[in-house]
Amino acid sequence: MSDTTEVKEHFDLTEYNTMGISAKSRYFASVTSANELRQLLLKPDYKLVPKLVLGGGSNILFANDFEGLVIHLDIKGREMIEKTDDHILWKLGSGEDWHESVIRAIDKGWGGIENLSLIPGSVGAAPIQNIGAYGVELEQVFHSLEALDLDTGVLKTFKHADCKFGYRDSIFKNELKGKYVITSVTLNLKKDHELNTEYRALSEKLEEKGITEPTIKDISDLVIEIRRSKLPDPAELGNTGSFFKNPVITETEFKRLKKDHPEVPNYPDKDGIKIPAAWLIDQCGWKGERFGDAGVHKMQALVLVNYGNATGADIIGLAEKIRASVHEKFSVALTPEVNIV
Ligand code: EPU
Repeated sequence: MSDTTEVKEHFDLTEYNTMGISAKSRYFASVTSANELRQLLLKPDYKLVPKLVLGGGSNILFANDFEGLVIHLDIKGREMIEKTDDHILWKLGSGEDWHESVIRAIDKGWGGIENLSLIPGSVGAAPIQNIGAYGVELEQVFHSLEALDLDTGVLKTFKHADCKFGYRDSIFKNELKGKYVITSVTLNLKKDHELNTEYRALSEKLEEKGITEPTIKDISDLVIEIRRSKLPDPAELGNTGSFFKNPVITETEFKRLKKDHPEVPNYPDKDGIKIPAAWLIDQCGWKGERFGDAGVHKMQALVLVNYGNATGADIIGLAEKIRASVHEKFSVALTPEVNIV
């Protein structure tokens, strides 16, 4: 275990990021338990070296080589820690694959995460950006998580309120960025679960198929079908899902935007009005554009893709052009959803 953690040098990260960028890390190690992680952090050789924790690598863009230690979290395990008549507390190792875990829950008949089917990445990454899709966000089923303090090696439990969840946001992207490593996540799933079918793409699909009393398996199957039709599979085409967040603008900004563009799609949000970034980008004519190996996906303007040998700088260059053109046409600022390292 601890002493045998192999630390590789000048390690190629292509296989460890879904954008498929061939950045290198000075040091690289995979850990399979919180204890192994703690031992690695205590090693004097790496004490002062910058560290980057990687889960599934599905929300990260390497702009450069990483001159430090990349720690790949390979902490596995799925355990039911509480079961009542109506709910299950399910503790998952942070290195478990998110989608595999969703499918496992559906097989057991546990509801709550079916709308989050086919999201690439690991369980440990899910709370960091409060993953969301088709009307559901992780925080709705989140019970707690355990995370290791990188400075002290102490394992701490975070409850819902401690995580300060927001839209694609949590304390781990802000105050505690780079300070903790999530080692497990506990979900609160329901046996008799109320489905969420409000998201338009989903309700339309249900109607199209004539499904009036869907099961959690139906919802999962439909979400998978919708995602496959719009979003590229990272195993076939490098990408990190949505590259930008959907901007939330003020009522005043929205009035101005609507005056010039009456057809602008919009959704009420607790902090203002949410505008789909995909629409803004699409209107600027970016969908399907390609510069060398960096491109904008043909089916979803919010997804940037790597056709093979794009560098992080190529993708960032394209993202910058998109951001500038959206700003010029709509005076709306886009911010990246992916972590740029
Ligand atoms: N649209 C366009 N052009 C496009 C694509 C979409 O005009 O090329 C329009 C659609 O017509 C629709 C609107 O944009 O009016 C929204 O599109 P969609 O329903 O596909 O969702 P999204 O806002 O682009 C968000 C999440 C996705 C999530 C889907 C489904 C963000 C940043 N993205 O995308 O999450 O899967 O909703 O819930 O919130 C991710 O985070 O990586 C991700 C893929």
